[in-house]
Amino acid sequence: LRATSVRSLTWKLVISYIGVIALAIVIVSLYVGFSIRQRFEVYQENTVTRQGELLANRVGRAYVEGGRNWEATQRLVTNSAALTRSDITIVDTTGQVRVSGAEGDAPRPQPPAAEITPPLHGTIVKGHQGGFLPGNRRIYASAPITANRQIIGAVYLTQSPPRLARRGSAEEFLPTVNQRIATGGLLAGVLAALIGAVLARSITRPVREITAAVEHIAEGDYAQRVPVRSHDEVGALAEACNRMAAELERDVGELRLQEQLRRDLVSNVSHDLSTPLTSIQGFTEALMDGVVENDDHRRETYQTIYTEVLRLRRLVDDLKNLAQYESGTIAIVPRPLALEPLIQEIVRVEEASAAERGVRLMTHMPAELPLVLADSDRIGQVLLNLVDNALRYTPPDGRITIAGCVTSGAVTVDVIDTGEGIAADQLPHIFERFYRVDRSRSTRTGGGGLGLAIVKAIVETHGGTVSAESVVGKGTTLRFTLPLAPEGVPAEPEQALPAHVSL
Ligand SMILES: Nc1ncnc2c1ncn2[C@@H]1O[C@H](COP(=O)(O)OP(=O)(O)OP(=O)(O)O)[C@@H](O)[C@H]1O
Ligand SMILES: [Mg+2]
Repeated sequence: LRATSVRSLTWKLVISYIGVIALAIVIVSLYVGFSIRQRFEVYQENTVTRQGELLANRVGRAYVEGGRNWEATQRLVTNSAALTRSDITIVDTTGQVRVSGAEGDAPRPQPPAAEITPPLHGTIVKGHQGGFLPGNRRIYASAPITANRQIIGAVYLTQSPPRLARRGSAEEFLPTVNQRIATGGLLAGVLAALIGAVLARSITRPVREITAAVEHIAEGDYAQRVPVRSHDEVGALAEACNRMAAELERDVGELRLQEQLRRDLVSNVSHDLSTPLTSIQGFTEALMDGVVENDDHRRETYQTIYTEVLRLRRLVDDLKNLAQYESGTIAIVPRPLALEPLIQEIVRVEEASAAERGVRLMTHMPAELPLVLADSDRIGQVLLNLVDNALRYTPPDGRITIAGCVTSGAVTVDVIDTGEGIAADQLPHIFERFYRVDRSRSTRTGGGGLGLAIVKAIVETHGGTVSAESVVGKGTTLRFTLPLAPEGVPAEPEQALPAHVSL
């Protein structure tokens, strides 16, 4: 069907070319034919008139020389009729026919009064009668005959072009011209058809290419592109197709990426759920089978099961939180917030575990840190997650600093540690869900790989940004920014930490 439609376009074009050229040829032929015919008639009239004048002159002389006798002109008239292939009539001043001569046995014309009266008054008359077709045309001229400067009569001369044409005279001219025009037109028509076919092909070729490419795109080959061969409408169509394909390619790429992320998430979640579940299952079975006899041992087993349940609980809570932050369904209530007291409170909460690890926890802030616009519960969680990470990856005798400073339009908070650091190739990924630099190590230390993803989601919900810098073996800096609160608004009274904080 497609091939037919394109071919029919080719045919349409070829036929229109031929049609236009045929029309042009017909118009040119008619115009040229008509004007040549008109000019030719004028030429013929002039010739007949000259012949008439010449004859009138000679008839006048013969009349006088013959003793003013019309009979004396008969030979001259007959010869002239044969020579000029005309019918000739001589009338006297009364309009009465005196002498006549005709070519062959053609009937002698009776001159109409209107055509012989003017010459009897000294005026030459010429003209033609008959319709558009040459068959019934007749050309005539009449001229006065004078003797001793007196009009004594008139010569009336007529010629019938068709009759003359039959005998191969100049009258063949018009039909020949028409024939030549027709032949030329036919040749031009054939040439036009050939050129038209080539032109039509050159137009339909890019259309065919575009059709083929779009068909490929429709089948899912989004990398398909159309060659842009011109800057006309077809070229613009090709460009539009290419833009459409590029757009589709990008969208589909995005969709595939999303799909991949979703698949990764499902596999990560199921993996992270199955590890604690396996151990809970194992310990529970041991308890049920009575394998654990010792009381202390039994209590220890319960403790392990409880720890694993907590881990599961935390994982599920983290996932739920993350989903809510990322979908924007969690309510954050940004208020003017003083960061300094919040940071001090985090330090108090974490001091014990820092001391346990032999790590110093300190802050570094300008005297007056301006208020930010943030939800204090959520920012508390961000700080806890960052300090928790720093504690986890900083060896004894290390140092963790929470530093705040003002940058353009925002407050920047750095959590700086002197820990093991993160390799440059890992650094860009640490904010991704379930990303852990060293899976086995993190499983041992209990991280789920969601902490930084939650940090990023919370900070970005506030309109801030997160970033990380690290030097392996020297330490890591995790940084986030928060927008400044509008000036002149008082801070909220200091708030307690959220009841449940995700560590
Ligand atoms: N301060 C740090 N020093 C070294 N590595 C870090 C630091 N903070 C994060 N990382 C690396 O980035 C990874 C991702 O951190 P993230 O907080 O998202 O997950 P986690 O701490 O492993 O688990 P969770 O926070 O869910 O308990 C960590 O597993 C760790 O490898
Ligand atoms: Mg963490």
